[in-house]
Amino acid sequence: MQARDGPAARLFFALVPPASLQRTLALLGHDVAQRAHGRAVPADNLHVTVAFVGACPLAQLSQWIEVGERCAGRAMRVTLDTLGGFRRTGVAWICQRDPPVALLELGNALGAALSAAGVVMETRPFHPHLTLARNCRGPFPHEPVGPYEWDVGALALMQSRTDADGARYVERYRWPLRPS
Ligand code: 2AM
Repeated sequence: MQARDGPAARLFFALVPPASLQRTLALLGHDVAQRAHGRAVPADNLHVTVAFVGACPLAQLSQWIEVGERCAGRAMRVTLDTLGGFRRTGVAWICQRDPPVALLELGNALGAALSAAGVVMETRPFHPHLTLARNCRGPFPHEPVGPYEWDVGALALMQSRTDADGARYVERYRWPLRPS
């Protein structure tokens, strides 16, 4: 891909909490990582993935910007209230037990747009979550927590870069969500 299509980037659509909430959740992440024998995600990297594009040529960025523009829907309040984990991928997370309809609609709209553009999507239903810790061996937490309130006003297109310190996420584009 590199030679024929130019440089590639690993892209995903995400909701990114304000820095103050990222800091609060990072503290929780340290606690969770300790309990689950994993590695806490740094505060700056905390986000909810709404749709994963994967590796694609940077020359196609405008295509994903159009998708974001078309799909960015209603603003929403997210109430993070539940800890859980995916044993298979060693991830511990926080989520909203009953996610807002606007978030599910956003995930479905982006998923449909990416599928139509040829991206192979996960077959499992969209389970919005914010990863707190990776490489967890367990035990995985499954309990109520918080709640942490978050008024989500924007959708972001993120690029994942990997360097010596691990993955780092850079915002490439941002769309305001419509007040509902
Ligand atoms: P995770 O938090 O559940 O691990 C950047 O890598 C983001 O994209 C992460 O939040 C990660 O979700 C998500 N991601 C990575 N690979 C993915 C894949 N193959 N399908 C869906 N989401 C993925």
